[in-house]
Amino acid sequence: MTGGTNGNGAVSGDLRGTGSPVPRIIPGEMVGRGADCRALDDLVQAVRGGLSRSLVITGEPGIGKTRLLEYTAQAAEGVRTVSMAGVESELRLGFAALHRMLVPFLDRVGVLPAPQRGALGSAFGLAAGSPADRFLVGLGVLTLLADVAAEQPVIWLVDDAQWLDRESLEVLGFVGRRLYADGIGLLFGARDASPGLTALDGLPTRHLSGLEPAAARALLATTVAGALSASVAARIITETGGNPLALREIAGQLTPDQLAGRSPQPHRLPVGRRLQGHFLRQVKQLPAATGTLLLLASAASSDDPAALWRAAALLDLGPGDADPALAQGVISVHPRVTFRHPLIRSAVYEGARSGDRGRVHDVLARIARQDGDQDQEAWHRAAAAVIPDQDVAASLERSAARAEQRGGYAAQAMFLA
Ligand SMILES: Nc1ncnc2c1ncn2[C@@H]1O[C@H](COP(=O)(O)OP(=O)(O)OP(=O)(O)O)[C@@H](O)[C@H]1O
Ligand SMILES: [Mg+2]
Repeated sequence: MTGGTNGNGAVSGDLRGTGSPVPRIIPGEMVGRGADCRALDDLVQAVRGGLSRSLVITGEPGIGKTRLLEYTAQAAEGVRTVSMAGVESELRLGFAALHRMLVPFLDRVGVLPAPQRGALGSAFGLAAGSPADRFLVGLGVLTLLADVAAEQPVIWLVDDAQWLDRESLEVLGFVGRRLYADGIGLLFGARDASPGLTALDGLPTRHLSGLEPAAARALLATTVAGALSASVAARIITETGGNPLALREIAGQLTPDQLAGRSPQPHRLPVGRRLQGHFLRQVKQLPAATGTLLLLASAASSDDPAALWRAAALLDLGPGDADPALAQGVISVHPRVTFRHPLIRSAVYEGARSGDRGRVHDVLARIARQDGDQDQEAWHRAAAAVIPDQDVAASLERSAARAEQRGGYAAQAMFLA
């Protein structure tokens, strides 16, 4: 845990509002998020003025929650900020997070009325006694925070709140709902759909979605040293949904020629290991049949549900096998087959064993053949082939020739590659 006063508004305002042409920005600088930054500026200003505020920033991994907490620390002129983050391994240790949050201030427990002091003492294992009364712990924390803030307004920046133990979250939710005018700020960053977060219900929340296209382009421009073709940038932005982490990681994994649009891009864009691991863990918990269905959907070129069910039937799978994924919101199939996030689709595809990938491509090739779509058939047969195959190569060359005739040079290059 770190603490300290920060005092420079390092982020220049003109870059937050985005527009064309793409602004030149320094790596690490904030792009986009104008409305979020203004909300955080307001929070800082209120706390500086002696009011209290709480706010929960939610969003998927890599979307920029931590970045906004950093922004707040930089923008908090005249306000003390104390940062801490939840730790996954402490998830089940009752009051562990609260203890870490308050350790620097525990020398003040003397200011607390005896029952509150006792409750905090037993919550933190400092004193033997009956189990901590949550209400008294909450009141004790409130009193303690107010005592700290009486010297200088303070904002606690609590990141990765999804990994805070349940007890700490409940106390912080209790405190957040009772803040009024002590110069206290409680700002949380938390991943979406984390079960324990209901403890923070009732606190103001901002949900982050992907960056606006212009901001996403600006971020890409800082990540890519060489040339970046507009169509490659557009594809990266679409496939990442403007997720800043994914934007950066994907840009880092493509070659300079791919980024410049001089050589073909992979069928599915590579996703950074961190994001992929996260999404894969979610998907791996689903039944095997559901996983195969998702793999099929991730490899399919069409988002037509009817085509998906036809292909699924060839693998002895049916619409019922999609139910667990539908229930978790991983995918939806009406009116089109769509993954909740394009990154999940990539993670499913890349995380699969190559044999399984080959199997679904083989099925998709058979469906394409039934539909008389030679290009699709050739493409899926190539993707299914684990060893070089003359027959497949020949059909790909024919597809490349057809693509050239249509003026599809990128498609031509892809088939030839
Ligand atoms: N608006 C932005 N401008 C520039 N860079 C950004 C922006 N938002 C995020 N980033 C960068 O993208 C990366 C991912 O952002 P960040 O770590 O804040 O995501 P997160 O939501 O906290 O993810 P996680 O849930 O995994 O903790 C970081 O390198 C961060 O600096
Ligand atoms: Mg984070």
